[in-house]
Order: sequence, then C-alpha cells, then structure tokens
Amino acid sequence: MSITVTENQFHLRTNSTSYVIHIFRDKYPVHLYWGSRLEDDGDLSYILDTMVADRAAGIHNNYDDIKKLFLSDVPMEFSCMSEGLYRTPTYHAKYADGSTVSDFVYNGYYIEKGKKSLSGLPAVYVEDDSEAETLYITLLDKKSGVKAILSYTVMPEYDVITRSIRYENCGADDVTLLCAKSCTVDFYAPDYELLHMHGDWLREATVEKTKLDHVKVSVESNRGLSSAQQHPFCVLMEKGANEEMGNVYGFSLVYSGSFQIEAEPTSTGLVRMNAGISSFDFGWELSPGESFQAPEVVLVHSDSGLGKMSRTYHNLYRKRLCRGKYRDQERPMLINHWDATGTVYTAERLAEIAKAGAEIGIEMFVMDDGWFGDTGDEIRQLGDWFPDKRKFPNGISSMVESINADGMRFGIWFEPEVVSVDSHLYKEHPDWVMTAPGHDATPMYGQVILDFANPDVREYIIKSISDILDSANVSYVKWDYNRPIIETANQEHKHRAILGLYEVLETLNSKYPDVLFEGCSSGGGRFDPGMLYYMPQTWSSDNQRANVRIGIQYGTSLAYPAITMGAHAGQIPLGLASYNNPLETSAHVAMCGNFGYEMDLAKLSEAEMEQVKDQIKLYKSIRKTVQFGDMYRFGNPFEENRTGVCYCDDDEMVLFTFQSRPQMNGEEWRIKLSCAEIGAKYECDGVVYTGESLKKLGIRISLEHYDYQTRCMVFKKVK
Ligand code: DGJ
Repeated sequence: MSITVTENQFHLRTNSTSYVIHIFRDKYPVHLYWGSRLEDDGDLSYILDTMVADRAAGIHNNYDDIKKLFLSDVPMEFSCMSEGLYRTPTYHAKYADGSTVSDFVYNGYYIEKGKKSLSGLPAVYVEDDSEAETLYITLLDKKSGVKAILSYTVMPEYDVITRSIRYENCGADDVTLLCAKSCTVDFYAPDYELLHMHGDWLREATVEKTKLDHVKVSVESNRGLSSAQQHPFCVLMEKGANEEMGNVYGFSLVYSGSFQIEAEPTSTGLVRMNAGISSFDFGWELSPGESFQAPEVVLVHSDSGLGKMSRTYHNLYRKRLCRGKYRDQERPMLINHWDATGTVYTAERLAEIAKAGAEIGIEMFVMDDGWFGDTGDEIRQLGDWFPDKRKFPNGISSMVESINADGMRFGIWFEPEVVSVDSHLYKEHPDWVMTAPGHDATPMYGQVILDFANPDVREYIIKSISDILDSANVSYVKWDYNRPIIETANQEHKHRAILGLYEVLETLNSKYPDVLFEGCSSGGGRFDPGMLYYMPQTWSSDNQRANVRIGIQYGTSLAYPAITMGAHAGQIPLGLASYNNPLETSAHVAMCGNFGYEMDLAKLSEAEMEQVKDQIKLYKSIRKTVQFGDMYRFGNPFEENRTGVCYCDDDEMVLFTFQSRPQMNGEEWRIKLSCAEIGAKYECDGVVYTGESLKKLGIRISLEHYDYQTRCMVFKKVK
C-alpha cells in the first residue's frame, strides 16, 4: 500500500520517497514532509508545535498559541483568501456578492486504485491500476458551495507523485476563478536555490540558479504557450546539491499554455511552491454545476542530486506520458531540408536531397515549410493546406512514392494554429482568428493566430491535415507553431484555445495511429510534457551550432529523455547561424538526442559524405541505448569547458565527451562512470575494463588541440 491513513495524517510512499500531509485543526491540509522514504507511520505534527516555541508574540504575528497560528505561517497544501493569508494563494475567486474571501475546510477523503485521466488535459497515465494509488482530499468553502478536490497519485515504482486540483461549483451562484492553481507545496527549505530555465529562440532551456533569499520568484509565461522564454519546470535545490548529491525537488507542469511556477520564501523559513495555469489576467466563470480541472504537476524528489531526478522523469515520461506505437520504438533518423533551402525549392531539388540521404542510410525525408498554397515561395499562405501546384502539379503522392521506393519514409511540415492574412482561408473566415473585442489582430510576418477555441476552426484543421495524410503515404508530421498569442480577450481564452488544440491532437492521434507526430515551436518554444502526451518528440532548437546546442540539450535533459529531443547535425549556414563547429562535434551533440540532419546532403563533398555515412552507422548501433537507456551527465556546459554524457543499458555504455576550448598541454581529464556495473567487464576499442575501475578510477579522455573536441566511446559489456 502506498497511502497510509492514520488519525489526521496521510502518508504517501513511493519506493524511495515519502510525502506526509496533516489535517491541521481538523480543518486545513498542511504539509509536514517530503523527502527520503520514512518507514515509520508516526505522527509528524509535532513539527508544527515547535514552530511557535521560540517566537515572541506580537501584533504582526500570533505565535502565542499554535491554535491561533496564522494560516500564513503554516505550511499549507492549499491556500486561499482566508484567515491570515498574506502569501500567494492556490485559489482566489470573486463571488457574486463582490467578496474574494473563502474558507476551504476539510470535507473528507477517499482513495482509489490506479489513476484517472484528466478531462480534456494531458496527464501521466497507468497501464494497470496496480501501478498507482490516488488520494482525493475534498475541501469545501461553505459560503459559496465551491469544492476543491485535491488529488495525489502515488506511483511507487516510478518514484513520483502527481498532483492536480478539480474545482466544482456546488453552490447556487456564479463564481469567477481569479487563480486556480494545480498545487501548493509549502515546505521547510532554508538556504535553497531555484533552478529554472529561460531563453529565447536559438537559446532555449538556458539553465539558471536563483538563490531564494527573501523575495518571491515567479517563473511564468503569459504568451499562450509554454515558451522558450521560461520553461514550465523548476527544481528546488538544497545548498550544495549538484548532479550527484543533495536533496532536490522537481516540479514539472503538464501544460502547454500560459503558466506560473512560483517560489515564495517566508520570514519563518518556509518556501511555498505554487504551480499551475497563470493567474495573470485570469477570470474563469464557473456557473453552478460546472467544474474546472487544473493541469497536473509531476513531483519528483531525489536525495542524490539532479542526475537521479532526471532519470526518474525520463523513465516516467518515456513510459507513462508519451503514448502510441512510437513510444517503445526506436525513432527514424531523418533528413530535413529547411536549413538547405528555406521555402525556395522545387520537387526535383527535394528529390536530390532525399536520394542522397537514402544512399547513406537515412530513414526518413521531411518536407518542411513552403509546399502549400498558390502565391509563390516568398509569400506563404499558412492555412491553405493544399500542395502548391507549381511545385507539385499532381499533388505530393508521386514524390512520396519515389522516396518510399528508395527505402525512406516521408514526413511533412504544418503550422496549423497560424493563418496568413494573404491566404484564402483568412479571406473566407476573417472571424476565425484570435482577437480582443474592438482590436485588430497584430500580424507577425503577415500571419495571425487561428482561434482553436472555435469548433469550426478545429474541424477545418482536422480535415485539411487529414486530406494530406490521406493523399499519400505520410509517416510523420512536424507540427510547428512560430508565434505567441498577442490579442485575446483574456487569459481564459488562451486556456480554451489550448484545450481546443489538445482536442485536435487527440483526434489526429486516434485517426492516424501510424503517424509519428513531432512538436515544434521555432525549435523548443513549446517543449513541454503537455505536448509530449500527444507528440512523443519535440524539435529542441533551430540552433545546430554544437557549442550552443550542447547547453540547450543539457537544460532540456533535466526533465526530458533523449528520445523526446529532436536533435540534428547541421553544417550549411542559413542566415543567422554560422556553423563553425566541426561536423563531428555537431553530430555527436545531436546523437545525444533523437538524431537526424539539417543540411544539403546533395552538396557535401565525398569526404564529408563518408563522414556522415559513418555517423549514421554509429548512431544506428547505439540508438537503442541512447533512446531507451539511462542518462548520466558529467559537468554542466553552462559552467564548464569539459562535459560528458553517458547512456547505459544492460548491454553497453555510450559516452560522449565535449571540450569547447582546447588547453595546450592541458590538465588530465578523467570521468568516473558512475553508471558502470560493479562485477561487470566492459570492452572499448580492444581494451577490457572492470566496471569497478571505470566507476572508481574512471576513464581518461585523451585530448587533442582543437576547438570543440569530441569523442564517442562505446563500452560493450563482456558477456
Ligand atoms: C521553425 C522551425 O523550428 C524550423 O525547423 C522550420 O520548420 C521553420 N519553422 C519553418 O518555417
């Protein structure tokens, strides 16, 4: 049993963690503990009593009696505008009488085997009820009749706890939800740092650590998408915690729209973590009988630093977030022509690149932007999803057939949520775009956003995509989205649009189970667990420059497994990026994810072609380990010149190393392969090593004097 209930206390246990909730004053669920597993079921509420012991009573606090402790000073599991609330709430609402005060009190609990799906929202799932147990704690605000149902799913084998909240209006009047978060965890965390990721186009997932002194930090996006600017994932790290040591607490929000993850320290040494949909400009009308489901947050604790935390997320997201037939399949290695041609190409030019790829063993050709509409190469007509007759007079099927005949699969690009103002679609349905009443939509590159909250829009998009998928043997769809939402009436509209997007993706998933979908948003601008639920991989970045991409992939790998990270090697400059990294480095960095190429293969020299051929052979031989094995990181590329990544399974360990700047006559570089198995033997380049020596003494990385040096070493287990 993973949930134990004793008087006023719920103890949730995964294989290596415990999470303990107490019902304070018989009314309020408060947080007592989250950390390494406790075997004992003893009452932990003594920790609240001692909170008042050494504090002086005063006007601004009330420490003389535990019974009178302000709720603001108590580690809450749910917080609202009630007695003594001075901190960021989980829930905030405006009632019919104009009041914003609530008092949610404990109204009972129940426990169920398994894990329910969340209506209309992506979420981690189970394949069998034995994999999880779910605790529901119901809170009721008597005055309004609103219920908050807090759910906690415990997945012992996966070592995670997922949380979400459903708000139900069981009262008689309308309620406006101003803030309806998914979870609050309010725990003792002195001297902690918050690791979060920020960035922009071409520099997604930039890792930053912010010391939590005495000021609130809010990691958020209000753009209507999870964004490259801030990432819906944060880690609270105890002082001194690093890749392999220390307590770290991960918060990963399974949502693709505007979000907030807030970390708020208090004068009493608590830190409140709040996560959910952004409450900026939010005001969801909840009529009597209606409910609002907040998205899921996946909580992971590791007592052995970031590495173990990441492996826990990887295992879960690979097996119980991603879905469909590709979940457990090695992903095809692809060539995409975007960096080689942009939108200016002919069918013959694409055939040339595809043919060159087929000859060296690439498995899929992806036709990117520029294949649709009827106005020419430069003015794109997003929304008119029919093949451009000047490029494809008879549709795309004959090109697909010849690509298939060469032994390659075919994939195609769409940007379904955006419409060009020059398109037929926009002219016919100008009212289908997202705007705020009385304001025109602001075009970016002549494009505005379709309103996916509108069922007619959803139907049109499903039909347009289906028409293309039905017209040829298409194996893959790259679903791009290249701009934020500018005008909408409000944040609720953005949420409705995300729900609409999820509905479209769900429909296409079930209609085309054989198609592999890849998410993209100018690279990794919408790389989040919500999208991975519908599309089991995401394009990590448009930046193929190895020494930058290594950081982008490092950040992305904190929460997401290699198999989900589209990562391509590139060499041909196109506009913004100049690729001054060796092709080998670019390839090795990309091999740390779901590998492919972005280049004009038809224009490579013979020597380069040989190099690429060898890379393809190498990746095919290690793909299973990279995509399904465990990942160990050595060093942080945002802080260090030399870094490594190792993937391992029962058969082998694959180690990639990178050094950006050479050190002439440099210091020795050793990596201790913590993933090596004691008792096992490994062979690499003709030398046999014991697992113990690789783990404890390490392996020496031989150095050469060039920039962006890289190595790939494969240690095969001797059987
Ligand atoms: C942005 C993507 O990240 C690129 O890979 C490419 O598909 C372009 N969009 C096409 O417009």
